[in-house]
Amino acid sequence: MAAQHQVREAFVALYGAEPDGVWAAPGRVNLIGEHTDYNDGFVMPFALPHEALAAVSRRDDGILRLHSADIEGGVAELRLDDLAPETDEAWTSYPAGVVWALREAGHPVTGADIHLTSTVPSGAGLSSSAALEVVVALALNDLYDLGLQRWQLARLCQRAENVYVGAPTGIMDQTASACCEAGHALFLDTRDLAQKQIPFDLAAEGMRLLVVDTRVKHAHSNGEYGKRRAGCEKGAALLGVDALRDVPYADLDAALARLDDEEVRRLVRHVVTEDERVERVVALLESGDTRAIGPVLTEGHASLRDDFRVSCPELDLVVSTAVAAGALGARMTGGGFGGSAIVLAEAADVDTLTKAIEEAFAAAGHTAPRVFEAVPSAGARRVS
Ligand code: GLA
Repeated sequence: MAAQHQVREAFVALYGAEPDGVWAAPGRVNLIGEHTDYNDGFVMPFALPHEALAAVSRRDDGILRLHSADIEGGVAELRLDDLAPETDEAWTSYPAGVVWALREAGHPVTGADIHLTSTVPSGAGLSSSAALEVVVALALNDLYDLGLQRWQLARLCQRAENVYVGAPTGIMDQTASACCEAGHALFLDTRDLAQKQIPFDLAAEGMRLLVVDTRVKHAHSNGEYGKRRAGCEKGAALLGVDALRDVPYADLDAALARLDDEEVRRLVRHVVTEDERVERVVALLESGDTRAIGPVLTEGHASLRDDFRVSCPELDLVVSTAVAAGALGARMTGGGFGGSAIVLAEAADVDTLTKAIEEAFAAAGHTAPRVFEAVPSAGARRVS
């Protein structure tokens, strides 16, 4: 509540009038299903309580004004007609990219004044950029009566990120921010965006999910993400399928036997086994066997570390320390190369585990990690 007032007051101070409204969109963690979304596969994220807030008013003169409370600098003023892909390397490319994507899709957006602030840690693999995109998309959808569905907003935000910002990411993060519900994880088929909300109330079962931000800044722009994506596309082409999602788990060995390139084989093995892990986690959660998902998460980490090769020493240290200290399971979450890991734990073990991870980081000479509990929270919404 306080944050909403602050964002309104800051808007008034910047732009000299009350905003038309205030919107919120969260960051996410992904429970399971990593690097599957650009292979038309399955993912299972849930929304964090950390979110981006936007106070927004419409304008009708072709001007977009942007300001962030979190970044030094004044108000950026852009002309809508000047917005063009990959011309902006600043944070403004995320909200501006959304405006560009809406207009390019034919939606009559004629301008806006926007003031943003976010509690989603940036560079931590928790989708701070998707939160910024989705909060702006939802606000403009409401203010311009565009009538777009949540999944359509997610697609437009992905387009903003892929084309305008120039990062080749999948559809998971934007869909999570736009579509998640409190108390649930979102089982998403990224091929057709079919969704199922799976109840995920760990506290009621005496468990907790910890997020450990390693403070190693991840970056998609370093090209490794794009290389994995290209390798997966190569694998699909060699196997004669549209996407790796189309390789059935039962046929994995036969598919691998047809691939000569060791690197492509590893990528394919990760994606096909990861899709199977998502389905296994869904089945376990639906049958009430929540504790049994722990080992599946840890298995997923090994696959990301050894086959997909997107982990890093700090993420591996969180997982090995947590598992050795009695966690039910642990894995890196998000794109990797830094960012965050998740740890599934009995509520009674949280303090011991946190301490063990902090001590292991100190002993290894790593920057102290940031550990917090993640409770599945609400997706994007208008807050005032
Ligand atoms: C990043 C991307 C997502 C997804 C994950 C890996 O978060 O934005 O689209 O590919 O990495 O699962």
